Amino acid sequence: IGQRINVDKNAPPEVPYWIPYLGSAIAFSVNPLKFYADNRKKYGDVFTYTMVGRKFTVCLGVEGNNFVFNAKLADVSAEESYKPLTTPVFGKGVVYDCPNHMLMEQKKFVKWGMSNDAFRAYVPEIEEETRNYFQRWNNKTGGRGDLFKAMGELIINTASRTLMGPEIRALMDDSVAQLYHDLDDGFQPINMFFEWLPLPSYFRRDNAHIKMRNIFKQVIDERRANNVTDKTDMLQSLLNQTYKDGTPFTDVDACHLMIALLMAGQHTSSTTATWALLHLAEHPHLIKELLAEQKDVLGSLDTPLSFDAMKNMTLLENVIRETLRLRPPIIMILRKVIRPITFPGTDYVIPKGNYIAASPIATQVDEQFYKNAMSFDPHRWESIKEEESGESVDYGFGKIAGGGARNPNLPFGAGRHRCIGETFAYVQLKTVISTFVRMYDLSLTEKGMPGQDFTKMFVQPVLPVEINYTPRK
Ligand code: HEM
Repeated sequence: IGQRINVDKNAPPEVPYWIPYLGSAIAFSVNPLKFYADNRKKYGDVFTYTMVGRKFTVCLGVEGNNFVFNAKLADVSAEESYKPLTTPVFGKGVVYDCPNHMLMEQKKFVKWGMSNDAFRAYVPEIEEETRNYFQRWNNKTGGRGDLFKAMGELIINTASRTLMGPEIRALMDDSVAQLYHDLDDGFQPINMFFEWLPLPSYFRRDNAHIKMRNIFKQVIDERRANNVTDKTDMLQSLLNQTYKDGTPFTDVDACHLMIALLMAGQHTSSTTATWALLHLAEHPHLIKELLAEQKDVLGSLDTPLSFDAMKNMTLLENVIRETLRLRPPIIMILRKVIRPITFPGTDYVIPKGNYIAASPIATQVDEQFYKNAMSFDPHRWESIKEEESGESVDYGFGKIAGGGARNPNLPFGAGRHRCIGETFAYVQLKTVISTFVRMYDLSLTEKGMPGQDFTKMFVQPVLPVEINYTPRK
């Protein structure tokens, strides 16, 4: 027990630890930002720490972001990092359970289901879902609502109505919601480390996976039996796809990819919606400004929202951008090193078997890049230009700015694994937030702003999260 000394003299400096195997797991999960800041002072931007028997080399700063996000396929593997967690939940043959070139093609299949025309159709549906959901909060005097729970339920309803199709949405209020919860319980950090443990939650997860796949399969079978071709949702766009080499993308593959997309978009969007509304409650003048912006763009607060009108709502967009800067749901992006790699500008050689980790949250809250970095100020984005990126790389699912990975603000990642759900997430969040502030005024409870719970797969506010609301006249 005690300080470990690196055997390899070129390996990056290593954070000492006293509890064998567990290493720095507790310090990291209590507050990763403090853990990074403390160790950065001692070791600089690149250092290695141990958690649950594995070595993570974190690469901080914009160069660190770029290094991890643009690392070469021959050097690192995302599949090797995420597979134990994702394959039991998503199923076989998709995302990290197939070679990377197949994932790139899968992302392209999905892209076609997220066109501007599709978004135009989604906005009224999301607005209606939001109104219907929050009607149940309605009473003359207002009250206190469980915001986190509400956003979790609402986002699953809106995502299923738009992306998954009306058949799945119809089942969402009962059976599918429960299955989703069981799948979700099996999607926790513990699964990455102890995938072999016979935990009851793993049995529920596996059972839920089979049932969920069967539900999607039944919907596909019915669409095929009835020759349905007029649907614009994502499920439809996944049918009849073929890989470039002629391998068919089967209906079971489509079911598995739908489950993956459900999981990828759910917590990320629902925690972002929760934080955005909490920050608005913290800064009530922003709610007034948002309503004024809606009135300005639409003429009246009774005019329905639309995809095109919301493009002109700059403050609304900046509220979401600022929420994601300060409260990104994904704070650690991993790649397993499969061939030793040197960190540019240093002698550090990161050994095979380590995980390299990018944590863009560190640059997102760094004073070097953002003045008063810890305060919520959507107006700051009015004077920040989106980074003009250098080269543009086509990974098969559309051009992605390669140089863009040197950006300090990367809540959606960068490079070949970059998020494909960003525009959808913005459309969904913009519609939900605008509709909510039209219906209610809101304020924080006496507890104030909640802290961040870093022990979850997707960082979320410490629960319970309640909010005071008053219906607008
Ligand atoms: C990838 C964040 C919403 C689907 C990613 C990555 C991040 C991210 C950081 C990169 C992961 C890595 O490099 O290892 C977010 C945030 C969201 C969001 C913050 C909402 C606020 C969505 C939605 C969908 C989605 C709504 C789908 C409907 C995906 C997919 C990938 C991805 C398919 C690609 C995984 C890969 O290539 O390895 N997302 N996401 N995400 N996301 Fe999102």
